[in-house]
Amino acid sequence: MSSVTLRGLSSSSFFIIFILSIHLSFTCHGDVGTAARYSPPYIPSACYGSDATEFPSSNLFAAAGDGIWDNGAACGREYIVRCISAEEPRTCIPDQSIQIKIVDYVASAVSLPSTNGTTMVLSDMAFGTIANISVTFINIEFQQ
Ligand SMILES: *[C@@H]1O[C@H](CO)[C@@H](O)[C@H](O)[C@H]1NC(C)=O
Ligand SMILES: *[C@@H]1O[C@H](CO)[C@@H](O)[C@H](O)[C@H]1NC(C)=O
Repeated sequence: MSSVTLRGLSSSSFFIIFILSIHLSFTCHGDVGTAARYSPPYIPSACYGSDATEFPSSNLFAAAGDGIWDNGAACGREYIVRCISAEEPRTCIPDQSIQIKIVDYVASAVSLPSTNGTTMVLSDMAFGTIANISVTFINIEFQQ
């Protein structure tokens, strides 16, 4: 009897610690937002004019949406981005995160995003690294 109670107690305190750590990881380390994707031509016009040397060699880059554009201060910022969910099940590639660099502003980008109004718009390479490239929209966790 008493060992059952003890086991019950310890598993519930583990559960509380687990919930707390999820809560902390969201409030301290990452923000939740949305991402679309965009395709070439990639011209970093809002940040770097037509200077293509500003693209990271990984091809992992993004255009900033209004929520993170920060009046242009977003240019060159780097974010760790992870896919957390999408409308279609199994869209996110599990345990996969990427580091992207902001090179443009969605509202003035030459290429249109796959979905309007997202936090950021990822290059095809970036999007396809964390999610199934056939969808147009994912929910993300991102951290500068
Ligand atoms: C996004 O908005 C632009 C401008 O209003 C429009 O041309 C485009 O079709 C929209 N894209 C989507 C995916 O709805
Ligand atoms: C990506 O999504 C499409 C459309 O839902 C599906 O046919 C395809 O199998 C998916 N690819 C992977 C790797 O899951």
